[in-house]
Amino acid sequence: MPVAAVSGRHFLLLTHACFIVMLLRPPSSTLARTGLGGFCVAFRIPPLPRATHAAFLPTIPTGRRDIMSPSSPISFFSSTPASSNEESSPRAPPTEHTGTSTTRRRKRSKSGAGGPKLSREFVGIAKATDTGRFRTYSAAQFKKGASGLPVTSPERPYFTVLGIETSCDDTGVAVVRSDGVILGEALASQYQIHEQWGGVVPGLARDAHASVIDSMVQEALSKAGMASVGEVDAIGVTVGPGLEICLRVGCETAKGLAELHKKPFVAVHHLEAHCLMARLGQPVVEVEEVEEGAQVEGKKVTSPSACFPFLALLVSGGHCMILECANVGRYRVLGGTLDDALGEAYDKAARLLEVGSGAAGGPAMELLAREGDPTAVLLPVPMKGKKDLNFSYAGLKNAFRMAVTRVIESQRKGERGGEKGGKLDHQTKADLAASFQSVAIEHLEDRLERAMKESEGRGIRTLAVVGGVAANHAIRTRLRALCEKRSVARMREVEEERAWVEEMEGDGDAAAAAAIAVADKLPAWELVVPPPRLCTDNGVMVAWAAIEKLRLGFSDVLQEQDVHARWPFANLDKRKEDEMEELVEGGGGRP
Ligand code: KG4
Ligand code: ZN
Repeated sequence: MPVAAVSGRHFLLLTHACFIVMLLRPPSSTLARTGLGGFCVAFRIPPLPRATHAAFLPTIPTGRRDIMSPSSPISFFSSTPASSNEESSPRAPPTEHTGTSTTRRRKRSKSGAGGPKLSREFVGIAKATDTGRFRTYSAAQFKKGASGLPVTSPERPYFTVLGIETSCDDTGVAVVRSDGVILGEALASQYQIHEQWGGVVPGLARDAHASVIDSMVQEALSKAGMASVGEVDAIGVTVGPGLEICLRVGCETAKGLAELHKKPFVAVHHLEAHCLMARLGQPVVEVEEVEEGAQVEGKKVTSPSACFPFLALLVSGGHCMILECANVGRYRVLGGTLDDALGEAYDKAARLLEVGSGAAGGPAMELLAREGDPTAVLLPVPMKGKKDLNFSYAGLKNAFRMAVTRVIESQRKGERGGEKGGKLDHQTKADLAASFQSVAIEHLEDRLERAMKESEGRGIRTLAVVGGVAANHAIRTRLRALCEKRSVARMREVEEERAWVEEMEGDGDAAAAAAIAVADKLPAWELVVPPPRLCTDNGVMVAWAAIEKLRLGFSDVLQEQDVHARWPFANLDKRKEDEMEELVEGGGGRP
């Protein structure tokens, strides 16, 4: 509406609206849904972080955990602490000091470069990416054997853990043995409950968790051949991040059972549990892709398990992060998403194509994409050429929406085939899905290749892909190829380096020669991905994370345990940090 046309009454209304919006300042996603976003941008009203406005979010549309982005509400800065001696654990593999010959030469010319300096960089408000080093346990929580530890003996060398997961819309329970054998598992998905609402409704999710949790515990126990919780040795439960009222269902159940049966209790971080799944090797039936895109029955193999330290790509409905996993409880976030998570983008794209809904969108898109041509629709690869390790899927999502609209329009005008009434036919949908997926994966490859180069210098040669989206077969295939490509490139770089050292013979560059010798010994890049059913939320990941903690001698005080919708990574109690360091240092190596 042109400003000149605003009457006195309209102006009063506009002023009122402006005042109300300034008072409420709803989160950016709500702005987008209500169309107030443009209004706020025009009037320069910054959106508040979403958690502050939980009341505005009756449903969580598809990007289910984006209210739980890696940044805490008070942590709007990214920090990259310097200390490099923190990196070296006694069990860590040899650290490779060679870069490419050119980068190494450049680095060497800088005198006294003692690693990166502490930097605090403003990264935005609504969806700030909190990169830096973090631990999932604050020293205050990190108590050795706080509520007891499982007892093992030479006759009974393994202990068993009951794991409970209720952080979002899956009620997962499992009994896992400390050597990684899954004894029993049960899962109740709420997909059908939330389908009609287009997103997870927290109240409904809580009620659904509450109504099935006891039967899920019973089912997991009976599959494990156990008559009661009294037969497990410890209990683990997800306490954050997640939907608070949902987390509480699992947490209170676990606390009650631990109290009743006098069992050690372990509080588990949901994202850490996803990452640690890479350390649980499992027998899986690999499904191999044949040339036409069809599937054939695969052979039974055991998926490899990751050894610390490893690089992890965590891709789920609410997160998209690259982390260096140094040990249990010790992580470094190299990059996160600036806007949408990959799972969220998949789910929204699926909704546009009217296939699958909510968290079923990702698998539906994957299936459809198998029948499509990935080059059919031109879409932009996000952040191409950007030198950081962050992700952004909002632009791709919008470009995809525009592409869908364009195709529908051209069908209406009769320029293309398609079904009557501008509806997309199956093949067009498949082409769109394949094009979306191909570009979405290219963005992953682009960021990961950089991250791999960066962490190679720290002796890392394992890439783990975890979280719900890791179930995607196309992603697995392309990232496996990326590992091969990077291994070949690294070999070439080492060769170049060797040639350079030989050329400089007599110069006495013993350090460079030693570094090459180390690089030679490091293996090729290996991809580790849990079996698809263990990528999405489940009870096994919680039980396994608890096992990893218990094996290091940690448990939590159940009476003091609360849930954390957001789990801040940076609230360490500095006084006890040394103690924690010492305890964690010993726990690396093979799971
Ligand atoms: O880890 P998860 O179960 O829950 C969260 O922690 O968010 O991940 C769920 C996400 C959903 O967005 C779902 O669409 C996506 O993982 N997903 C997939 C596939 N399977 C699950 N995305 C793409 N391809 C798949 N096969
Ligand atoms: Zn998850």
